[in-house]
Amino acid sequence: MKPTIAPFPATRLRRNRKSASIRALVRQNSLSVDDLIWPVFVMAGTDAETPIASMPGVTRKTVDRVAKAAIEAQALGIRAMCIFPYTGMAERTEDCAMAWDPDNLTNQAIRAIKSAAPEIAVMTDIALDPYNINGHDGFVENGKIVNDRTVDALVKMALAQADAGADILGPSDMMDGRIAAIRSGLESAGHQDVAILSYTAKYASAFYGPFRDAVGASAALTGDKKTYQMDPGNADEALRLVERDLSEGADMVMVKPGMPYLDICRRVKDGFGVPTFAYQVSGEYAMLQAAAQNGWLDGEAVMLESLLAFKRAGCDGVLTYFAPEAARLLNA
Ligand code: PBG
Repeated sequence: MKPTIAPFPATRLRRNRKSASIRALVRQNSLSVDDLIWPVFVMAGTDAETPIASMPGVTRKTVDRVAKAAIEAQALGIRAMCIFPYTGMAERTEDCAMAWDPDNLTNQAIRAIKSAAPEIAVMTDIALDPYNINGHDGFVENGKIVNDRTVDALVKMALAQADAGADILGPSDMMDGRIAAIRSGLESAGHQDVAILSYTAKYASAFYGPFRDAVGASAALTGDKKTYQMDPGNADEALRLVERDLSEGADMVMVKPGMPYLDICRRVKDGFGVPTFAYQVSGEYAMLQAAAQNGWLDGEAVMLESLLAFKRAGCDGVLTYFAPEAARLLNA
């Protein structure tokens, strides 16, 4: 039913903006700590953190420091953390075997978070890039990123993470058929309660630059990821991907990057009505932090406004490097 709008002056839309109380009453969307997933970078060693130059305020942390961060996150009311390993050239091989090693950095961090802060839902990243000699998310044969052999490896990686205690697996590789293969692997291994948050509409984006510095992939990567990640000009394809991933057993879907792709978030939510997440990626974070550090933008205000935009676009939550800072402000 279309509401009738009486002509001015009977309708004065400014009445609903008159005071903070009235604005709060009529506000349609809001951001809460429950909406935040905190991505963290884990590195080898003990009791150390190193700053990431292109992501001011973000550090790589050793496993013990990640556990400490989890305790802080839990105290702030943050529900989930997502782990990304920092690897050097020495951990990278052609066969990517470290990706499914039960003792790799990700799996150590999963166990450490689960024992330090049991209420935190632990999310992972499934893709071969941290362990691949050439920095790609899949195996490379004759200059091509091969699909099916990669999917077999991703299943092994997923099972190792589930065995370590992960709650939510995040396949970020964009291979075809990976959700079905991972889901059936989980079922056979008795991990029927492990969720899959699929990186469903993941674009081949220049906004991932700082992340690749953070995980040590910038030097390793040869070429680009355009044969598997989505073309930024496409929108309808995102809906086909969502339909496909849901039919293969994904529990939740993601759009990535976030802010430049809010139109996709809205279409996914309207089209499917399933739990929908956006990833406010490293480049979005870097951009806002750079402007804030120069005094060109009010850092806290744009942080909260940028996160609220995801809610307005239909997202149920957002992966954001701002999570602890945003939680502190939301709790204040
Ligand atoms: C790798 C992966 C990437 C990100 C998350 N998982 C980078 C890429 O695809 O090259 C990017 C996250 C960010 O930029 O914050 N599979």
